[in-house]
Amino acid sequence: MLYVYAPEQGDLYVSLLRPALPGWRIGAWPEPVDPETVTHVAAWAPPPGLFAPFGQLRTVFNLGAGVDALLRRDDLPASVEIVRLTDAGMAAQMTEYCLYGVLHWQREMDAYRRQQAEGVWVQRQTRLRADVRVGILGLGELGGRVARDLSGMGYRVSGWSRGPRALDGIVCRHGDDGLAETLAASDVVFCVLPATAATRHLLDAARLDCLPEGAALINAGRGSLIDEAALLARLDDGRLRFAMLDVFSEEPLPADHPFWCHPRVIMTPHVAADTVPAEAVRQIAARLGGGEAIPSGRIDRQRGY
Ligand code: NAP
Ligand code: GLV
Repeated sequence: MLYVYAPEQGDLYVSLLRPALPGWRIGAWPEPVDPETVTHVAAWAPPPGLFAPFGQLRTVFNLGAGVDALLRRDDLPASVEIVRLTDAGMAAQMTEYCLYGVLHWQREMDAYRRQQAEGVWVQRQTRLRADVRVGILGLGELGGRVARDLSGMGYRVSGWSRGPRALDGIVCRHGDDGLAETLAASDVVFCVLPATAATRHLLDAARLDCLPEGAALINAGRGSLIDEAALLARLDDGRLRFAMLDVFSEEPLPADHPFWCHPRVIMTPHVAADTVPAEAVRQIAARLGGGEAIPSGRIDRQRGY
């Protein structure tokens, strides 16, 4: 049996999964279920202990890209395979999110907002896309697509990943030196890395200082990638022009956090890219029903993504 945990979308998932997997019993939380019949679960942000009663559990389909929260749990033994979604409609949304921030920097919307508040009419010099350097940290399913899309629009794109990558028209780097070089060559840096032990506080004070003065940071990966105190200090003193943040070390962001009303912060509540349910179901069905060739989505627990 495949059991779905997707509050508010449970019925939708069941209605899409039943025709896609005719031989399967499909149910969704909070419908009661005999735990011994559950072999597969599809879930996003399941509550602690959800998996504990499922003694026959073989596979968990993560209804999203990032598996960091699943890997931190203590009710998922190593014998249970974790499979994530690849793209599932999120990559195009990531391009939109990144582009919004890049345009904010390129067209100086932050300065025009200030000017409007002060009643100032000053026309600032236009920058062309070819003169805007965008650095993408993470060149996987999502970052790779963002890099290609922005490069296709005419931006000067470079990217950074764990191992070497080759993308047409994009300067690709890896390793510590590669990160420093990528940051130094970015007017806008877009983070779309997974949260792992190796990426925790990757952008600390020293790395943030590799960015050129007046650069902007967009984070749509995970909050843990950034030392938020170091970021705040660089926004306070204006060294960084702005940060556009979708993800935070604590979510929801505590009500008294300085990001909420910081003039150099644009915030969104973890919405940069949403899973498209029909696409998620297509990937789950392809894996369970066989046939269609799609990326494996298997997680390497050691690597953390
Ligand atoms: P992915 O396909 O696994 O790609 C991950 C990329 O990060 C790869 O290029 C990988 O390098 C790189 N990477 C991982 N660890 C690294 C390290 N230590 N140093 C340098 N590069 C490293 O993942 P994805 O599907 O693109 O998703 C990326 C992340 O986006 C997710 O894990 C999630 O946290 C986040 N996300 C956020 C939202 C949102 O709404 N805010 C939505 C979806 C996803 P290699 O290429 O060398 O493997
Ligand atoms: C959302 O944050 C995801 O990882 O899919």
